[in-house]
Amino acid sequence: MTKRMVVGVTGASGSVYAYSLLRTLVSLDWLVEGIATPMGERVFAYECGMPVDHAEAKVHWQANDDLFSPLASGSFRTDGMVVIPCSMNTLGSMAQGSGDSLLLRAAQVTLKERRPLVVVPREMPYNIIQLENMLRLARAGAAILPASPGFYHRPEKIEDLVNHVVGRVLDQLGIEHTLYRRWNGGGPRD
Ligand SMILES: Cc1cc2nc3c(=O)[nH]c(=O)nc-3n(C[C@H](O)[C@H](O)[C@H](O)COP(=O)(O)O)c2cc1C
Repeated sequence: MTKRMVVGVTGASGSVYAYSLLRTLVSLDWLVEGIATPMGERVFAYECGMPVDHAEAKVHWQANDDLFSPLASGSFRTDGMVVIPCSMNTLGSMAQGSGDSLLLRAAQVTLKERRPLVVVPREMPYNIIQLENMLRLARAGAAILPASPGFYHRPEKIEDLVNHVVGRVLDQLGIEHTLYRRWNGGGPRD
């Protein structure tokens, strides 16, 4: 069975979530198809201090303007897509059904093929247009998983917060992981 995940990286803050997801999927032996928007590339380089295609050598990057890519067709098998972090700009375009870039087309393909689409928006606060766009995408089948880590697993480092969000993304996709400690009823710290 294929273990192929599409990961879209946009120009919202929170590039470290993409960095962690890309590395985790590769470490779990997934084939990863990466697509970054131009602002996704710039914000990633700014926040992570490296080009996005240096995050993990095994990721297969595809140009966002290459609509001849296999990812533009539903006949190409993938197991789903994550847009992480997701800007309000890309969120709005996805909610409108736009397909004029590879990232947007791949998101529409994922929805029409009834494959899991996990969207990790990052903005604060949200306006009504943005909230409605999230509702529209959720109604179309996407999981809206905001970049808002919990604190009930008692994080000690930024990495713990990042891992909580990435772990919840993997949970949505049914992928086993050990990125965070699951809630056990609030017993004493072990
Ligand atoms: C440093 C930086 C941080 C940004 N953070 C956010 C953010 O958290 N959320 C958001 O929606 N846009 C954010 N933006 C704005 C987006 O990059 C901008 O709207 C862009 O058009 C998004 O393009 P894309 O959706 O094609 O990636 C940020 C821009 C910069 C330069």
